Amino acid sequence: MSKLIGILTSGGDTPGLNSAIRAVGKTLLHEGGYTLIGFLDGYRGLMENRFVELNDSYLSGIITRGGTILGSSRDKPHKMPVGGKIMDMTDVIVQNYHDNHLSGLVCLGGGGTQKNSYRLASAGLNVMTLPKTIDNDVMHTDVSFGYDTAMMIATEAVDRLHSTAHSHHRIIILETMGHKVGWLALGSGLAGGADVILLPEIPYDEQVVADAILRRSREGKKFSIVVVAEGAISKRMAAIRQEEKDGEEKVEAMLKTRTGELAANLEKLTGRETRVTILGYLQRGGTPTPYDRLLSTALGSRCALEIMAENWGHMMAYQKNTIVPVPLKKVAGPVKYIPENHYLVECARHMGVCLGS
Ligand code: F6P
Repeated sequence: MSKLIGILTSGGDTPGLNSAIRAVGKTLLHEGGYTLIGFLDGYRGLMENRFVELNDSYLSGIITRGGTILGSSRDKPHKMPVGGKIMDMTDVIVQNYHDNHLSGLVCLGGGGTQKNSYRLASAGLNVMTLPKTIDNDVMHTDVSFGYDTAMMIATEAVDRLHSTAHSHHRIIILETMGHKVGWLALGSGLAGGADVILLPEIPYDEQVVADAILRRSREGKKFSIVVVAEGAISKRMAAIRQEEKDGEEKVEAMLKTRTGELAANLEKLTGRETRVTILGYLQRGGTPTPYDRLLSTALGSRCALEIMAENWGHMMAYQKNTIVPVPLKKVAGPVKYIPENHYLVECARHMGVCLGS
């Protein structure tokens, strides 16, 4: 009798999810002895026992498709909205896993998914994970799939904004995704030649940003491109987060209008017309780059091999040009922030890119 493996995608979608599902499935089917089923809409589908069989025809022709053929959600097993309440549905999930006679479960997701998967592994399930996120903030993997595609989209946006900023002698602020970390803003900002890059890891001072723009004006450069991560905060916001009661909630609320306010303040401080572009979900949409297809394919195929070896409780990671299994226990929890002395941060500083502080 063939062994049954479940797979699901959880959290925000990213390009590369379908190629990863395809690689897990094709490797298992090719090697033989396995049947793969896909639970729909993340952990919710596992809780509600909604799934489809991922046979060969289901897995064909999906390598180029963006999003996830399985659907996704941000529902967590231990905090699931059910009937207007938030419930711990871990027991139901464990029961469904056993009732379906699953031999294992593969969860594709970012930092939150790694934590939730570790919880399920601790509840006795055989779990494997793959790291996907455009934010690139999963620990113990050099890169997660989805990041390269988002980088390409964000970099193209920086490129295109240059010509219009130049024509109108304006400051243009591009807001990229990246709530906790600034990998996308840093990468696309540097690749696109932005003049200012603001990251969640480095609280900024608006006056410092304005001074950098004014310095450019004195040098005869009449436009500036500012790339700001959605989670970047000013020094004042950082102080509120640290010192005030409910500081975290206050800062979250302030972030909703932060980019517009930054634009208004820079306009006042520099006297230059300022415009905002919020890139938003464009960064998560569409077909994956060849790099993301290869990365997700290699991670997915290796995952299938680890399933065959019954080496449960691991995330497949990309480290130093190869794929390695990393214990979920190590991955679950910590966030991969940009280190202060990261080579790209140092490179930006040495090249005179303003980082806001
Ligand atoms: O996938 C991560 C991310 O892109 C974050 O940068 C962003 O804050 C978040 O998703 C927003 O996603 P959603 O609105 O789908 O929850």
